[in-house]
Amino acid sequence: LNNHLEHTKFKTVESVRLGKNDMESWYYSPFPLNYQNVEKLYFCEYCMNFYILESEMQRHQKACILRSPPGDEIYRDDTGPISISMYEVDGKKNSVYAENLSYFSKLFLDHKNLYWNMDPFLFYILCENDDEGSHIVGYFSKDKDSKDNYNLSCILIFPLHQRKGYGKFLISFSYELSSIEDKVGTPERPLSDLGRKSYLSWWCQRIIQYIESKPEDYSFSVEEISRGTYILEKDILYTLEQKGLVKYQGGNSILLTDRNYLKKVFKEAGHPGIPVIRDNIHWIPYKVN
Ligand code: ACO
Ligand code: ZN
Repeated sequence: LNNHLEHTKFKTVESVRLGKNDMESWYYSPFPLNYQNVEKLYFCEYCMNFYILESEMQRHQKACILRSPPGDEIYRDDTGPISISMYEVDGKKNSVYAENLSYFSKLFLDHKNLYWNMDPFLFYILCENDDEGSHIVGYFSKDKDSKDNYNLSCILIFPLHQRKGYGKFLISFSYELSSIEDKVGTPERPLSDLGRKSYLSWWCQRIIQYIESKPEDYSFSVEEISRGTYILEKDILYTLEQKGLVKYQGGNSILLTDRNYLKKVFKEAGHPGIPVIRDNIHWIPYKVN
C-alpha cells in the first residue's frame, strides 16, 4: 500500500462537532495519538481547539474569550441575506490555531499534502456573522512567498456549507488579492475533483465576463485575458478548450465571442457564486523580509 491509499482507507475520527453543527468526516487526518479512533471530536469554532469529551468542550466554551478567528477582519459584506467576513490569520503568529484548523481540514481533503510547518502560510477564514460572533464556514491558505505563482494553497468549504456559492467566493477572493498584488496566480496542484470542477467553472465564468466587458469586434490574446483577469495563461487555455470557447480554423485558434453563445456557456457552468465586493477588501500584501 502506498501512503495515499493507506491514508484514504481508514478514517479514525468518525465525525466532528463544530459550534452547533455535527459533520461526518471523509478521510484520515493525523491527529495526535490520543485523539485517534474516536466517534466524535468537539471543536471550538473560534480558536479551533478540540476535545474528546463534550464536558471538556463546555468547560472550554466558558473560558474561551474569542468570538472570531484570531486575526484581522479584512473584508465584510452586510448586504446579503447573511453577513459574511474574511479574517486573515498569520500561521506563524497563530501556529496552534493553524495546526488545529489543518487537522480539522484534513478530514475533508484526500490527496492534499498538508504542510505541518505553518510559518510560511496565511489563512483566509470565511465566517458567517451573527449576534454571537463570527462562525467559520471555510477558508483558503496562501503561501506568503510563492515561487510558483500560487495564489492559493488549499481551499475548503465545510460540508454543511458547500454548494451555496462560498467556494467560488473564496476563489474570487484569491484572485482579487492577486489583482491587488498585481501578480498572475494559480492554485497549488494537485487539485481534487471538487477543486478542479469549481475552478474550471469559475475560470470559465470569469473569462466570459471579461470578454463581455469588451466590444464584440475586440481582438483578444490569451496574454491579454491573463493580464485582465490575473488567471495564468495555462489555465485560460485549458478552460477555453474544455468549455468549447475556441474553434480551430486553418491552423489558427479562434476565440468565440458571440454573445448568445457566451451566455449559454456561462449558464451551463452553473451558479456564479457569492460575489466579492472589491471596495470592501482592506488588505495590504504580506511583505517578505
Ligand atoms: N444553489 C445551487 N448550487 C449552487 C449554488 C446555489 N446557491 N451556489 C453554487 N452552486 C453550485 C455551483 O454551480 C457549483 O456547481 P457544480 O459543482 O455543479 O459545478 C457548486 O455548487 C460548487 O460551487 P460553490 O458552492 O461555490 O463551491 P463550494 O462552496 O461547494 O466549494 C470546494 C467548493 C471548496 C471545492 C468544496 O467542494 C470543498 O471544500 N471540497 C472538499 C475539499 C476540496 O476538495 N478542496 C479542493 C482541493 S484542491 C486545492 O486545495 C488547491
Ligand atoms: Zn475556543
